Amino acid sequence: MHTRITKAVIPAAGLGTRFLPATKATPKEMLPVVDKPAIQYVVEEAASAGLDDVLMITGRNKRPLEDHFDRNYELESALQKKGDADRLAKVQESSDLATMHYVRQGDPKGLGHAVLCAAPHVGDEPFAVLLGDDLIDPRDPLLARMVEVQEQHGGSVIALMEVEASQIHLYGCAAVRTTADGDVVRVTDLVEKPEPADAPSNYAIIGRYVLDPAVFDILRKTQPGRGGEIQLTDALQQLAADESVGGPVHGVVFKGRRYDTGDRGDYLRAIVSLACEREDLGPDFRTWLRSYVTQEWPSGS
Ligand code: UTP
Repeated sequence: MHTRITKAVIPAAGLGTRFLPATKATPKEMLPVVDKPAIQYVVEEAASAGLDDVLMITGRNKRPLEDHFDRNYELESALQKKGDADRLAKVQESSDLATMHYVRQGDPKGLGHAVLCAAPHVGDEPFAVLLGDDLIDPRDPLLARMVEVQEQHGGSVIALMEVEASQIHLYGCAAVRTTADGDVVRVTDLVEKPEPADAPSNYAIIGRYVLDPAVFDILRKTQPGRGGEIQLTDALQQLAADESVGGPVHGVVFKGRRYDTGDRGDYLRAIVSLACEREDLGPDFRTWLRSYVTQEWPSGS
């Protein structure tokens, strides 16, 4: 018998230094992707996978994150008076998505430490972790499949994506064995940001996890690793090494579109890709984009 997963944890307390100066006074998760902050896509993804209890791990500059998922009565009544039902719906959308909870990380001592801050809220049940700056294209669902795999096998499930060998040093990397399911692998080992020569595979860990609560005890004992931070990958490595602790670790291999909105290039790609698909903005934007690229960059350089 498996416990149904209802809780999602969203770490959003990182410093966002790759996006300075935009992130000097604003969390990077609040940067808009078309007309919604990146974090709203992440909360929408949790809610659409059936996880409507969301704990956000925040740090400095937490106000805009909390305000965005709260009601804004002043704005709502102004729009009501104007009879602007469309915009009113947009304002209310984010506060109706999920039951939101917040905890402060204090010092950003790493992703593992951020996840550990969720222990009192999560208790003794499996839970999902969605990184607040990792945007999975809503057209390519991933989390619902991970929840399904966890319900089937128990233990923990991580999301993996094949990357070029030259890129693997930017990610945690998994050693895997195949299973009977084409999109599911058994994870046997994990290494944080390996050099290409030391990487056991091209499978990079991306920012979605379904974790057994045994991870909390491991994190409590995990020493700061790479970069002086408490690394989630180090704790997952221990789970993968000893199945008797928190069950097996499986990986779901994701082949869809994913953007690291904390990276400037990926952030731009996310906006262009999602804008092109939009019914309201897409047709005009695609026409402009095509002529802009042809006129300004005719040789494709
Ligand atoms: P990143 O590795 O992207 O780090 O964190 P960062 O500090 O946010 O950004 P840069 O590298 O300085 O630009 C991955 C995820 O983990 C969260 C971040 O908010 C992000 O969602 N995180 C990271 C925390 O919540 N706390 C931490 O101590 C570190």
